[in-house]
Amino acid sequence: MPLVKFIKENKEIEVPEGANLRDEANKAGINLNCALSGISDGVDQLVHAISKFTHCPGWGLCGTCRVLVKKGMENTNPLTTKEQVKFKWLPVPDPIPSLAFIGHEDEMRLACQTRVMGDIEVESAPPLNVFGENFFS
Ligand code: FES
Repeated sequence: MPLVKFIKENKEIEVPEGANLRDEANKAGINLNCALSGISDGVDQLVHAISKFTHCPGWGLCGTCRVLVKKGMENTNPLTTKEQVKFKWLPVPDPIPSLAFIGHEDEMRLACQTRVMGDIEVESAPPLNVFGENFFS
């Protein structure tokens, strides 16, 4: 059975092959959805708590279950059409997932659209850096 390591949570779980990443995280008590608008560094406890109630039920619509697959992307299904729409094709009315995708094209997924076929390492609630590292310098 594939192993999923959640880096920030320092937790490793075994999942059935082909399992849905978000469903398995939920079963393990890990909330992969970021905040209201999708902005969360994963540290702010209030914002992260709110996020438990402000997302779609895993339909690929809200874009808040963004994660970074730091290792083992080859052990997941290809980007689904819903992910392509959320990240690349439809920045309106919600530009946040598209902005978050920039610079993370090789590692960002929607957890609710990700099937686990082998071992992976996942970073939850990746920070949103809209302006880049040197915007104010
Ligand atoms: S839970 Fe809404 S897009 Fe994944």
